[in-house]
Amino acid sequence: MTTALAINGVTRRYRLGADNYVHALRGVSLEVEDGEMVAIMGPSGSGKSTLMHIAGGLDVPDSGEAWIEGTRIDTLSDRKLTRLRSKRVGFVFQGFNLLHTLTAKENVALAAEYAGLSKRDAAQRAQELLGMLGLRERIGHRPAELSGGEQQRVAVARALVNDPCMLMADEPTGNLDSVTSAEIMDLLARVNVEQGMTIVLVTHDHGVANRCRRLVEMQDGLIANDGGEQGL
Ligand SMILES: Nc1ncnc2c1ncn2[C@@H]1O[C@H](COP(=O)(O)OP(=O)(O)OP(=O)(O)O)[C@@H](O)[C@H]1O
Ligand SMILES: [Mg+2]
Repeated sequence: MTTALAINGVTRRYRLGADNYVHALRGVSLEVEDGEMVAIMGPSGSGKSTLMHIAGGLDVPDSGEAWIEGTRIDTLSDRKLTRLRSKRVGFVFQGFNLLHTLTAKENVALAAEYAGLSKRDAAQRAQELLGMLGLRERIGHRPAELSGGEQQRVAVARALVNDPCMLMADEPTGNLDSVTSAEIMDLLARVNVEQGMTIVLVTHDHGVANRCRRLVEMQDGLIANDGGEQGL
């Protein structure tokens, strides 16, 4: 097995005032192997989003290392990091983060165009993927014309459009009711099993975490517990 992501001894602090810092991460190490599905839980402010952003190359640590698929990312130039991230990591957020003036298909296609696909190939890939995720009838709808669950499925399609090696989701079901939340988890579990996609997700919901094979618990900027494989 290869290692999808690794962070070693990562610290990250945010400056609040002249001599005042919040220590969001105090020395965190974590390895996730290809094909794993991992839940990260922990109290508000424990560093979950910060960890996810550093592991996915959206943010850089103050000290320590971050690796994606054997490439060290915390020392890459912005340009190289952006390119690696757009090809290797798909992100899904609690608020869906879709562009409101674009249709479902355009939202997904745009991410593929950013990664270098031609307009035509991007549109075709977006259409295929939305069809696969059960949104064939919705491709021309704008986000406001879609339910929360449908919007999140569009966001998952957008995250998958460049065939990333891993998908990172920060509270992907946080804005959804329990039925819709279960549908999104069905979808993520299917992508994990059928495509072998590595998935790391942050959640406050034990039901969501129970769908993952491994549970990592954070507290005060540290990993308090790494349960390893949990029985399903
Ligand atoms: N941009 C920022 N500037 C200052 N402090 C920040 C910033 N982002 C996060 N923090 C602080 O860092 C700590 C960790 O934040 P983080 O967002 O990683 O927590 P979290 O575990 O994701 O919390 P939640 O469950 O509420 O999303 C918190 O104390 C937070 O207030
Ligand atoms: Mg958070």
